[in-house]
Amino acid sequence: TTQEKVEALLAKMTLEEKVGQMAQVTLDVITKGKNEYVSDEPLQLDMALVRKALIEYKLGSVLNTANNRARTPEKWHEIISQLQDVATKETRLKIPVIYGVDAIHGTTYTAGATFFPQQIGQAATWNRAIVKKGAEICAYETRASSIPWNFSPVLDLGRDARFPRLWETFGEDVYLTAELGKQMIDGYEGESNDIKNPYRVASCLKHFLGYQVPNSGKDRTPAFIPELELRERHLPAFKAAIDAGAHTVMINSGLINGTPVHADYTILTKLLKEELGFKGVAVTDWKDIDNLYERDKVAATPKEAVKLAINAGIDMSMIPYNFKFCDYLIALVKEGEVPMSRIDDAVRRILTLKFELGLFETPVTNYKDYPQFGSKAFEESAYVAASESITLLKNSNGVLPLKKGAKLLVTGPNANSMRSLNGGWSYSWQGEKVSEFGEKYNTILEALQQKGGKDNITFVQGVAYKDDGKYWEEKDVDIDAAVKAAAKVDYIILCAGENSYTEKPGDLHDLTLSANQIALAKALVKTGKPVILVLNEGRPRLISSFERDVQGVLQSYLPGNFGGDAIADILYGTVNPSGKLPYTYPMYANTLVTYDHKPSEEQSKMQGVYDYESDFAVQYPFGFGLSYTSFQYSDLQVSKSAIAANEKITVSVTVKNTGTRDGKEVVQLFIADQYASITPDMKRLRGFEKINLKAGESQKVTFTIAPRDIAFVAKDLRWTVEKGDYEVSVGTLKAKFTLSEGKTFDDKASNL
Ligand code: IFM
Repeated sequence: TTQEKVEALLAKMTLEEKVGQMAQVTLDVITKGKNEYVSDEPLQLDMALVRKALIEYKLGSVLNTANNRARTPEKWHEIISQLQDVATKETRLKIPVIYGVDAIHGTTYTAGATFFPQQIGQAATWNRAIVKKGAEICAYETRASSIPWNFSPVLDLGRDARFPRLWETFGEDVYLTAELGKQMIDGYEGESNDIKNPYRVASCLKHFLGYQVPNSGKDRTPAFIPELELRERHLPAFKAAIDAGAHTVMINSGLINGTPVHADYTILTKLLKEELGFKGVAVTDWKDIDNLYERDKVAATPKEAVKLAINAGIDMSMIPYNFKFCDYLIALVKEGEVPMSRIDDAVRRILTLKFELGLFETPVTNYKDYPQFGSKAFEESAYVAASESITLLKNSNGVLPLKKGAKLLVTGPNANSMRSLNGGWSYSWQGEKVSEFGEKYNTILEALQQKGGKDNITFVQGVAYKDDGKYWEEKDVDIDAAVKAAAKVDYIILCAGENSYTEKPGDLHDLTLSANQIALAKALVKTGKPVILVLNEGRPRLISSFERDVQGVLQSYLPGNFGGDAIADILYGTVNPSGKLPYTYPMYANTLVTYDHKPSEEQSKMQGVYDYESDFAVQYPFGFGLSYTSFQYSDLQVSKSAIAANEKITVSVTVKNTGTRDGKEVVQLFIADQYASITPDMKRLRGFEKINLKAGESQKVTFTIAPRDIAFVAKDLRWTVEKGDYEVSVGTLKAKFTLSEGKTFDDKASNL
């Protein structure tokens, strides 16, 4: 068995060999040439450095943070073979290296791979099958590139619009995140988690736990999260993914309640490993053991930082640039500061992963055995995902779809950019373009030209992003030229939003759309021509200063390589939009509130006394999205009006397509606890189904509600249901049921 193989190998290992397995360096440490994030220099291993890492330091893992140097599948295969050859032929125990990457919306490491929309866009499809398919394709292409470990999915909740990695999440809601997270795990690992299968990869749940909600909204700044909130909102998606068999977890780089999570024994060992029963590998984020000393000041020396993290429960350290971690850890074990049992536990987990991945038998795959890599069929799936993600937020007087032959002005910084369509972790870490990648895809402008006829389209950039350096800043502002061009067209397509970014470089001082882009929008609105705002952004930038004056708004998120085509098809009406917002689009900087807020956020509205300006005000609500057809909901039925604490009920509703074209609708079920010992949220999503209805067609949709769906974390930190009334809502319809008795669940962590 795997366990026997692991034990037999472990018994042969020296302390140095064990510690080496616990370390991961970045590829730059073992390659020739410049150490840059983006370079066109051909990639070449430095074999002396490879031997230093694998033979002298006995390292067991390598990662690559999208430091692309234009790789063909052939070239990449050659490099990974050279690396594994040293590990499996020249080291004493011949243990293969495990290579990990961030292929978060496609394999960004080999030219020609398929890019899906980023996770936030996948969430906006509200389509489980699409998310699973995207992960399957990504796993296939990643494994085809001899990479068996993907640092994905992100199960952090995107509850703060300011945070620079919101687009890497499934949005603000825990239920949606848990549901889609499970699909992604199934897509990466297969339903039986048989990752020896050469078309699967090991997944990595990020970033355990509560990473995306620091107080300042900026990356890796302190978060204060009460345990109740941690358990109720931040834990369930991780628990569901661990129950679904996910093999690895990456740790939150930040502080929670003053303690860096990388040094938190309660979170890493008590909660993750003991309570949730996680048997896989817990890997650090980038340099995060050093950060305990350098940044977070809980360790007075780098060595003490290693002691804290390993004793807290870290199994593998992303070092990433030097080998000191190994020296410190060996010394700490010899000094009795880190128990050998902890080292053995970590190494057992790592070796188990390597055996389960089949790396001992097949350390390298051959891209030639993967004929579907970058195929038309894969590209079609990515296009479908993009077209189901794009969300129509405003369509005054049916301005969309555009009439065939209409004259368009296409303008704005995102109009002609593949970079902004893909976002970060694409052709590189920050999403900068790398030559030889991404040439064959259409920007929004190119797709509109192809579909609407070049002669009908005038392009004026208006505002442009800087290409390098401070690429989040803007240059080349030519608003007058855009206004002038508007005189000759029927419609203005304003492509606005953000340039690509991730992590710290994406931090913002102000969530409002940039001043230049607002100036462009206001000037265009003044021309009197209908303006359609196409948003292409990782997070919802505030647009309330001009939104009421535009006729149409289309949110495209970061739709990937086929986003340009999908946007054009929706604008021209060949595709009927069906995306729904996976987050609340805020209206003002001081109303950054999620949909599942407490009643006091809307007290003046509820009490009908004053219309306080402070009341909850949104640009567009969570779950919102328009279609070119209309849907009518009727006949909401609850199977029983009174139930006991362990009973399930079914809720059914009939949905009819009352318009003249076929369309897809996301049926969303919310539950609201009416009164509880802890103030209940206004409502919580507890079911959704995306259905396809032909014009005139009806369908009955049925949901099952289990007691878990109405539970909340009570003051004793246990999942609890209380007797009383509950309201179910689907669309604008509402129904009630009553629970006759309360109940506390045995396990603290709920599986929603
Ligand atoms: O996986 C990522 C993580 O999300 C952010 N820091 C770097 C890691 C490895 O690239």
